[in-house]
Amino acid sequence: MKFDLIIANGTVATASDVFASDVAIKDGTIVALGRDLGPATRTIDAAGMYVLPGGIDSHVHLAQPSGDGIVMADDFESGTRSALFGGNTMVLPFCLQQKGESLREALKAYHALAEGNCYTDISFHLIVSDPTDAVLGQELPALVADGYTSFKVFMTYEGLRLNDAEILATMDVARRTGALVMVHCENEDAIRYLVGRHEDEGEVRPRAHATTRPIAAEREATHRAMSLAEIVDVPVVIVHVSNGAAIEEIRRAKARGRKVVSETCPQYLMLTADDLGGMDWEGAKFVCSPPPRDAAEQDACWNGIEEGTFDLFSSDHCPFRYDDPAGKLNPKGARSFRHIPNGIPGVETRLPILFSEGVMTGRIDLQRFVALTATNQAKIYGLERKGSIAVGLDADITIWNPETRRTIRHAELHDGSDYSPYEGTEVQGWPVTVILGGTVMVEHGRLIGKKGEGRYRSRALSSITRRHSP
Ligand code: URP
Ligand code: ZN
Ligand code: ZN
Repeated sequence: MKFDLIIANGTVATASDVFASDVAIKDGTIVALGRDLGPATRTIDAAGMYVLPGGIDSHVHLAQPSGDGIVMADDFESGTRSALFGGNTMVLPFCLQQKGESLREALKAYHALAEGNCYTDISFHLIVSDPTDAVLGQELPALVADGYTSFKVFMTYEGLRLNDAEILATMDVARRTGALVMVHCENEDAIRYLVGRHEDEGEVRPRAHATTRPIAAEREATHRAMSLAEIVDVPVVIVHVSNGAAIEEIRRAKARGRKVVSETCPQYLMLTADDLGGMDWEGAKFVCSPPPRDAAEQDACWNGIEEGTFDLFSSDHCPFRYDDPAGKLNPKGARSFRHIPNGIPGVETRLPILFSEGVMTGRIDLQRFVALTATNQAKIYGLERKGSIAVGLDADITIWNPETRRTIRHAELHDGSDYSPYEGTEVQGWPVTVILGGTVMVEHGRLIGKKGEGRYRSRALSSITRRHSP
């Protein structure tokens, strides 16, 4: 057989092994591993490079309506282009159901925005904000059967939060269908109480975002979400965990035998609440929820990565422009922290940050890096052809130069925001070539693939909820 492409002389890493091997690709699929595999139309020399499964970022927000004249900085084109340059071949954005809207309607709109515009593969998680009888009884089960096998619920944000009864009812749909529920864990009533107190005291600066969302509000909600999941008897994904107390709750639940998946993000390793107290209104650049904490909590998050509590490392890319009336500095947001849109960009810097701060420092090995950034995402979110380098899987591959040293500069990134929260951070290791389904999309840092090459992928049930058969 003549292969379409061979990646030669590299060091392949999977979630279990690191080994010297060439990789042969035909019709978008990995078809052989080994040496002297035979002729190919094209060969890429990867000597001195790591050959990794393309990153899967399972927590990103693209083109999500934010209300009040706020516009997200990335649509599917810019967001997936940025993801691609960061070494990712797939992202999982959210499809937000507005109150009164059916999930099918919401999906139709998101698919229309994404169709033909993506540089990476995509798939959607559903955000359930209006769990009516029709949504829970008919829509959600039908959508799970159609391959939308995960949904997120919020315990915070006015207009989005569900009460405990609604969360239980939504989890019950997951129990019946095998879908996976992701939970944003922060206690909204506690936050509202603190917001009121801050406003009474005239404190409206961005730093108040952190003090109105304390660790206890996240810890309590994390405990409650896992308790609700235990009552229904379903697995649960605790997303964007920021601190040691929440991690302790997760450890306890896991030790009791509960199926809990947990995720952390670069902001909880690299940023602190002090960043929100920057000069003028610059702190708005770091407003996200849960907020970044302090150095001790960063250490706790690293510990959770190192000893295996965390299963997923995602960006929670939720980009807004800073200096923009439709972004962080919108007319109300420039006057009070309450109106600064929550979220920060990071889809392009997720992998370099974890590689540099995790692998290059010796905190984690390369296998764990691959597990946290691609393999676990594929298993947990039902992407059966993705997340590893093995015969029969999609040829989604990132060739990684571990020697490249770069200083993160937003001017060199590809998202639609106007800043990076990691500006000036020095990293070692960067993706040089990114291959999507056998097509070279980025080569030596240059975009050569076409928009539309990335496609929507429907998903199977999670490996956690699925009954396995050969
Ligand atoms: O601040 C954040 N994280 N914004 C994105 C929405 C969410 O809660 O994930
Ligand atoms: Zn969230
Ligand atoms: Zn998010």
